[in-house]
Amino acid sequence: MEVIIRPNEAAAAALTARLIAESIQDKHDLVLGLATGRTMESVYARLAEMHKNDGLNFSACRTFNLDEYVGLPADDPNSYRSYMNDRLFNLINIDPRNTYLPDGMAEDLAQECQLYEERIEACGGIDLQLLGVGESGHIGFNEPLSALLSRTRQKALNKVTIAQNSPLFDPPSKMPRRALTMGVGTILDARRIIMLVTGANKAQILAKSVEGPITSMISATALQLHPATIIICDEAAAAKLEHKEYYNWVFANEPEWELYR
Ligand code: GLP
Repeated sequence: MEVIIRPNEAAAAALTARLIAESIQDKHDLVLGLATGRTMESVYARLAEMHKNDGLNFSACRTFNLDEYVGLPADDPNSYRSYMNDRLFNLINIDPRNTYLPDGMAEDLAQECQLYEERIEACGGIDLQLLGVGESGHIGFNEPLSALLSRTRQKALNKVTIAQNSPLFDPPSKMPRRALTMGVGTILDARRIIMLVTGANKAQILAKSVEGPITSMISATALQLHPATIIICDEAAAAKLEHKEYYNWVFANEPEWELYR
């Protein structure tokens, strides 16, 4: 694991977008795992800008989102499908048929989850997975007690997540209480992972995720098991990291980061 601390939210998002763009340039048919949430909005804005201004080409990319609410039709403004269409897919040259999210309206949700796993496998697995972290410590919607080897399935959302996300719904009580989410094991199968964490409200959960013991109570701690994970955060989110100085030293001195400093 590497932890890269940037001075502010904009710089952290810019580095995240740059690393994604470089991966697409290296492998034009990249299989990209995507996340939603407020944190990702500036990353997607930058990727859209790179497409418009620099011709970043998404035409051969395939994308798999981490999760979707159960019971929200795709065209509901609060569905993650709408989020992705509005903030990224409609602004770039990706083929909509190559953009996958679990279908939270499927008649047989267990079968839909199984199919989602099969689709990821049929595309050759996820090359690069983008992640945020919830205040409950979830990645995707892997709430506390999610098995570290779990696969795509239905999860009940916990109180912290409902408090975090319900203000986006009008009225807040409309927020679904269940979601389909890639499992922790599904996420750990990605070849590379970038988790972006910004803002003071994430400082405590970031410190626990990076420096705390691995536990199914905080699914983000499972990233400690992954061989190629980069955590990108801003100063505000890094505030409670005990070994901040070491992470900064690595970024400032290791040759692989020379072009990014
Ligand atoms: C959401 C999503 C996660 C996301 C997280 C953080 O509920 N299921 O994939 O990373 O919570 O959201 P935000 O960026 O709004 O803090």
